[in-house]
Amino acid sequence: MTETLKLHTENIKSFVTEEEIAHLQPEVDRLHQDLESGQGKGAEFLGWLHLPSQTTPDQLKEIQQSAKWIRENCDAFVSIGIGGSYLGAKAAIDFGSHAFSNQLPPSARGGPEILFAGQNISSDYLHNLLDVLEDKKVCLNVISKSGTTTEPAIAFRLLKQFMEKKYGPDEARKRIFVTTDPEKGALKQLAEEEGYRRFIIPGDVGGRYSVLTPVGLLPIAVGGLDIGEMVAGAVDCEKHTSQHSALDQNSAYRYAAIRNLLYQKGKTIELMAAFHPALQTVVEWWRQLAGESEGKGGQGIFPATAEYTVDLHSLGQWVQEGNRIIFETFLRVAASDHSMKISESPEDRDGLNYLAGRSLDEVNEKAWQGTAQAHLEGGVPNMTLTLQDRSPYALGQLFYFFQRAVALSGYLMGVNPFDQPGVEFYKNNMFRLLNKPGFGKGK
Ligand code: PA5
Repeated sequence: MTETLKLHTENIKSFVTEEEIAHLQPEVDRLHQDLESGQGKGAEFLGWLHLPSQTTPDQLKEIQQSAKWIRENCDAFVSIGIGGSYLGAKAAIDFGSHAFSNQLPPSARGGPEILFAGQNISSDYLHNLLDVLEDKKVCLNVISKSGTTTEPAIAFRLLKQFMEKKYGPDEARKRIFVTTDPEKGALKQLAEEEGYRRFIIPGDVGGRYSVLTPVGLLPIAVGGLDIGEMVAGAVDCEKHTSQHSALDQNSAYRYAAIRNLLYQKGKTIELMAAFHPALQTVVEWWRQLAGESEGKGGQGIFPATAEYTVDLHSLGQWVQEGNRIIFETFLRVAASDHSMKISESPEDRDGLNYLAGRSLDEVNEKAWQGTAQAHLEGGVPNMTLTLQDRSPYALGQLFYFFQRAVALSGYLMGVNPFDQPGVEFYKNNMFRLLNKPGFGKGK
């Protein structure tokens, strides 16, 4: 695998030995075979496994053409979705974009503002969104595999009405893009009836494994990222991780094996801490992937997230000295897009001259090393995943790395990592309380 993603595991040695890791190898080999041959739990949702290498240039071109049209004809693009139909696109766009992208003048941004809806049930949020859209040229992409999820359905109903009022039905139709299941669902039917441009989520790819399908690729391309590069990174990781199951060669499996051993030793919380603000939504995407995949049947590591160094000034105290049921995974970028050095000050009133001439990346690296050492000494085993840079290629590798790792991790725990039966419970109660037909009545 091209070395853009590195896993550092030195700081788990006093908690998990190489012998214990090696002891898991036969089980990992067996589960790897289950994954590759489609014999394991949830095998009907393994479409993501070899999806990157099966993505054709024509498929990418089709997405890129629509993205180009949107970039040329809109100055606000609203991606409507929740869970796996939201987080991957937002993660990639936040990762690859200027930190204040929506505040930049359109000429500097080179494409529309990217906004999100359908990820909450808030009239204030939607009202404020409509305020922002009022004077803009708008396009919508509504994304829902089932086509029936309440949050995005409500947002889309309101935004569709806004578009039809603003543009009239014919122009609105050109500006609405739908990503949904190829066969079924209310959204598929609506898209057909209205004649919206439609993209497909393969039936055998579940929501949280769908970032490399049009679910993620269309908004990500609208955000200006090179989706060809991102898929190439994923292909690289797919090839490597499907060819090698050895825990000293396959770092996705090594990460999964170590977290499983830590879990067996009572470390039931994993705190994924991003050491770069561009990774903040990437760790949220990971949290959903891990949480929905593993948390079932009384099992599962609780996936928590943080952004360092900001959260070292809040959660840091708990991590250093709180309940010892936690391990950490640090996610960092070796080289920022822009290098910035600390300047010399003649008076040195702030006492920072000892840092003069050093880059912020270097200071951040020392913060990472200092934190990793301190938390280890405080009884928190930790690993680090380092991305070489903020390229779409590196992100594609990372997305696939986590998908592979979480799938194996679920299998190691004996659960189906591809379903989410627990999510239905709140929905059923909400539907009953709202008197939705077919869900019973009342309180
Ligand atoms: O991972 C999953 O399957 C879920 O998080 C879904 O992505 C989420 O519930 C949204 O579902 P849908 O795309 O059907 O609207």
